[in-house]
Amino acid sequence: MDPAKLLEEISKDFGLSLESCNDIRRLEEIRTDYLGRKGKLNLVLKDIPSFAPEERKEVGSRANLLKDDFSIRLDALKFELEKKLKSETTGSLDVTLPGVEPGIGTRHPLTLTINRICDIFVSLGFEIAEGPEIESEFYNFEALNIPLDHPSRDAFDTFYVKGKYVLRSHTSNVQIRLMEKNEPPVQAIMPGRVYRPDAVDASHSFMFHQVEGLLVSETVRFSDLKGILMNFCKSMFGPDIKMRMRPHFFPFTEPSVEVDISCANCAGVGCRVCSGNGWLEILGAGMVNPKVFEAVKYDTSKYRGFAFGMGVERIAMLLYGIEDIRLFYENDVRFLRQFA
Ligand code: DAH
Repeated sequence: MDPAKLLEEISKDFGLSLESCNDIRRLEEIRTDYLGRKGKLNLVLKDIPSFAPEERKEVGSRANLLKDDFSIRLDALKFELEKKLKSETTGSLDVTLPGVEPGIGTRHPLTLTINRICDIFVSLGFEIAEGPEIESEFYNFEALNIPLDHPSRDAFDTFYVKGKYVLRSHTSNVQIRLMEKNEPPVQAIMPGRVYRPDAVDASHSFMFHQVEGLLVSETVRFSDLKGILMNFCKSMFGPDIKMRMRPHFFPFTEPSVEVDISCANCAGVGCRVCSGNGWLEILGAGMVNPKVFEAVKYDTSKYRGFAFGMGVERIAMLLYGIEDIRLFYENDVRFLRQFA
């Protein structure tokens, strides 16, 4: 056959084959049939020496052009077929299958404890206030009547930031900020994080939580403090809990006490949890020292107040029977999931 005609025929056949091709496996067969080593175009090229000399060049370049053309058309069709295949697979997705359920978190035991403490005090008429964790020495110490030579101001007991700033070592700073902004009566609780450079062990952490309390009015008395705290202890730990106050010293309250509750683990008999003495210290409290009122320019002849501060971790550990404070901060979901 005339080689030019032969090429034309091949080209026409190729077109027809492509037209009827609708899967990739068939497409690769066509590619081999036409472009493979023993494919139709190569067979023509192999025959070139047998053609008349004036035809050789013409047939050679025509066959090579067809090679490029076929290859391009095969690739284009392959792309289309792959695209179609992809949309078909997506289209066959079973929409009735259940979706992937996102894991819903649980509240952290410290959050639960803070919320419980706040709920109890809110039910007694307290408002909730917050203050900064990076605090000036004035609010963290001076205004609270903590002198420069007090051990808590030592660099071993407080994290110092640049200048006259510290990471607050207690939530008592918020008392000052609150009183500066508000005239009495003031009645608020102040939850938040506090920081101390303590070595971490089963009962110490360099960061922990406190809830501060403050009530200022013209008539409040120590017996009110006792009543409120008694109410709190029973709401928190149950009606059978006992509470006691021991004299103590805090620069910002006078008189001051430490408050213990009877050990819920052994009902006051003495066990490992309470180190054998039947009582557990849960907070510090007292009547606001007039020096604190002077710092916020309250009339000390007119107003009196009580204040208290409790450690949240301690209370959460008693409440849930947790023996190691580090569990609160490790984010182990096996621990956290238990507090749904
Ligand atoms: N700020 C004290 C502490 O961190 C706790 C405290 C004790 C707060 C007595 C008070 C208070 O408001 O009256 O150890």
